[in-house]
Amino acid sequence: MSKKLFIQTLGCAMNVRDSEHMIAELEAKEGYTLTDDPKEADLILINTCSVREKPERKLFSEIGQFSKEKKEEAKIGVCGCTASHLGSEILKKAPSVSFVLGARNVSKISRVIHQEKAVEVATDYDDSSYVFATGSRNDYKAMVNISIGCDKKCAYCIVPHTRGQEISVPSDLILGEARRLASAGVKEILLLGQNVNHYGRRFSSAHPKISFTELLRELSQVEGIERLRFTSPHPLHMDDEFLEEFASNPKICKSIHMPLQSGSTRILSLMRRGYSQEWFINRVERLKALAPETTIGTDIIVGFPGESEEDFLGTMEVLERVRFETLYSFVYSPRPHTEAASWENLVDEEVASKRLHRLQARHKEILEELNQKEVGAIHSVLWEHQRRDEGWCEGRTDTGKMVRMKGGEEFLGRITPVRIKEAYRAFLIGEPL
Ligand code: 5AD
Ligand code: SF4
Repeated sequence: MSKKLFIQTLGCAMNVRDSEHMIAELEAKEGYTLTDDPKEADLILINTCSVREKPERKLFSEIGQFSKEKKEEAKIGVCGCTASHLGSEILKKAPSVSFVLGARNVSKISRVIHQEKAVEVATDYDDSSYVFATGSRNDYKAMVNISIGCDKKCAYCIVPHTRGQEISVPSDLILGEARRLASAGVKEILLLGQNVNHYGRRFSSAHPKISFTELLRELSQVEGIERLRFTSPHPLHMDDEFLEEFASNPKICKSIHMPLQSGSTRILSLMRRGYSQEWFINRVERLKALAPETTIGTDIIVGFPGESEEDFLGTMEVLERVRFETLYSFVYSPRPHTEAASWENLVDEEVASKRLHRLQARHKEILEELNQKEVGAIHSVLWEHQRRDEGWCEGRTDTGKMVRMKGGEEFLGRITPVRIKEAYRAFLIGEPL
């Protein structure tokens, strides 16, 4: 009987990809199969996020819970950003943990499972030539890492500490991976990096200079790949050449994540984001002028140290002007190893959570208005999976919206046009054209 692997993944797309990588390694080299029941697992992996404090605090209670219910001989491994950040402290605090594997070390998974109490958390480890997963959970979509780490020094963010210095993956490896995926039937690729449009800044060995825009151009030539998406780009590096390529290249999906963080130029400067409110709005306006159908998503932090009501109103103003389709919003959480960790001008917790509530409430209204406008619109949808019991298939528009349509297996992996009949907050209902 094969050994069973249970894996819990928190955090961003990068972590999801890292989990896919570990699953693929363990299936291919160690004969594991996945289970969704930790009680029957021989190996339990927790792939953690440390971007905010709460999930990090929950880690130890989760380890406690898994150790109670697991099979006696089953091993527990802690991976990802919190593993990088806490390292051997995890083994000290939680003796039931067998190994700790940092976010930049996931390719060592099949080694550490055979070692006693291994701690692999080096952030200078060069994983960049060994970063592709083969275990995508969807037949038609795949994620491809184009860079690892982050060189920015945003005052609130722990990621440069957990994921280390930014290194780009050589472009021939990325193109080779795209061709391999295309021949396996993949239609859509999501390019990943902490700061994707900074691609080409540094390679681990000699490599011809190539920008993110050039990489997109080359990838769009790969036969069989119909759609390209990427996350996350940095608003600072959205130059005109990039926006023009984004707008004019039909393979680049017209949906983009533009992490605003704050709409106040004063707070943006304290955050060390490198752009102003005006720059952000200017980039959005240029993008909308070139490709008006583009949907824009964002991340916003409220209650950053020193944020006044006026600063917060700057954020609300950007929300009104841009009308983001997706919003991930958070109350600021002080993190170790960051510049802002020692600042004492914290915003009162109640004030910050009221601001979050105001932001989210207004966004909900905007989203309803945006979705209602979809009724009657025509979109092309890549059908990704079937809801078997109900006879529906599901997929996304080029602009990133989830659509359901009555239909079966024959649609899977195809891109077909639909007209939107009904709109709900989480999905649209379409009919074939
Ligand atoms: N507190 C709150 N939110 C944070 N983020 C990053 N660091 C913090 C922090 N210290 C948010 C940012 C980032 C997203 C992944 O998490 O908005 O874009
Ligand atoms: Fe991803 Fe950042 Fe969380 Fe790490 S800390 S998992 S990089 S969101």
